[in-house]
Amino acid sequence: MDVESSKAAAMKAESPKKHKRRNICLGVTAAVILFIFLLLLILGLTVFKPKQPTTTVDSTSISDMKVSFDIARLRVDVNVSLDVDLSIKNPNKVSVKYKNSSAFLNYRGQVVGEAPIPAGKILADKTQPINVTVTLMADRLLSDSQFFSDVMAGTIPFNTLTKISGKASVFNLFNVHITSTSSCDLLVFVSNRTIGDQKCKYKTKL
Ligand SMILES: *[C@@H]1O[C@H](CO)[C@@H](O)[C@H](O)[C@H]1NC(C)=O
Ligand SMILES: *[C@@H]1O[C@H](CO)[C@@H](O)[C@H](O)[C@H]1NC(C)=O
Ligand SMILES: *[C@@H]1O[C@H](CO)[C@@H](O)[C@H](O)[C@H]1NC(C)=O
Ligand SMILES: *[C@@H]1O[C@H](CO)[C@@H](O)[C@H](O)[C@H]1NC(C)=O
Repeated sequence: MDVESSKAAAMKAESPKKHKRRNICLGVTAAVILFIFLLLLILGLTVFKPKQPTTTVDSTSISDMKVSFDIARLRVDVNVSLDVDLSIKNPNKVSVKYKNSSAFLNYRGQVVGEAPIPAGKILADKTQPINVTVTLMADRLLSDSQFFSDVMAGTIPFNTLTKISGKASVFNLFNVHITSTSSCDLLVFVSNRTIGDQKCKYKTKL
C-alpha cells in the first residue's frame, strides 16, 4: 500500500517533467521547420526569384525559294522556306523546361506554315540557340489574288511568330510558368530572294 502510493507520487512528479521535455522537443522541431521554410522563402524571393527569359531572333534567311507564274490563270506558285535562328536567354538560377512549341509563318494575318519546336531545357544562366525552318504550305496561297499582286510587285510581306512556354521550378516547390513570344514582320524580295526590313517584337509573360 505504502509502496504503491509512493510509486504513484513519483509518477505524478515525473509526469510534468516529461510533458515539458516533449513540449521543448516539439517547439524545437517547429522552430527548425519554420526556419527552413523562411530560408526557402527568402531564397525563393531573392537569389531564385524568377526572372523572365528573353527570346531574340538573331537572323532570318531564305533556305529555299521557287516561284512559277501561271499568267494565263493569274496564279503564282511559290515555295519558300525561312530559317529562323532564335536564342532564348534564361537569366534564372534554375533551369527552365519548355514544352513542345511552334513557329508560324503568317501572310497578311493568315497562317500559311507551321513548324514544331521540340520540347527542351535551358540550363541556369544559359542562352539556348534554336533554329527552326518554316515553310509556306504548298498551294495555300495559290488562288489568293492579293498574294499574286504582291509577288508581281516583287515583295511579299510575311510574319514569323514563335511562342515558347515552359516553367521554372525552384526546389520543386514553386513552379513559375513562363511564355516568351517573338513576332517579326519582314519582306521577301522576289527578284533577289533576300529578306529585308525585318522588325521584331518580343513579349514575355511570367
Ligand atoms: C512547290 O512544291 C510542290 C509540292 O512539293 C510542287 O508540286 C510544286 O511544283 C512546287 N512549286 C515550285 C514552283 O517549285
Ligand atoms: C512532343 O513532341 C514529341 C515529338 O514530336 C512527342 O514524341 C512527344 O510526345 C511530345 N510531347 C508532348 C508532351 O506532347
Ligand atoms: C543555328 O544556325 C546558326 C547559323 O545558321 C548556326 O551557327 C548554329 O550552329 C545553329 N544552331 C543550332 C542549334 O543548330
Ligand atoms: C534585293 O532587292 C530589293 C528590291 O528589289 C532591294 O531593295 C534590296 O536591296 C536587294 N537586296 C540585295 C541584298 O541585293
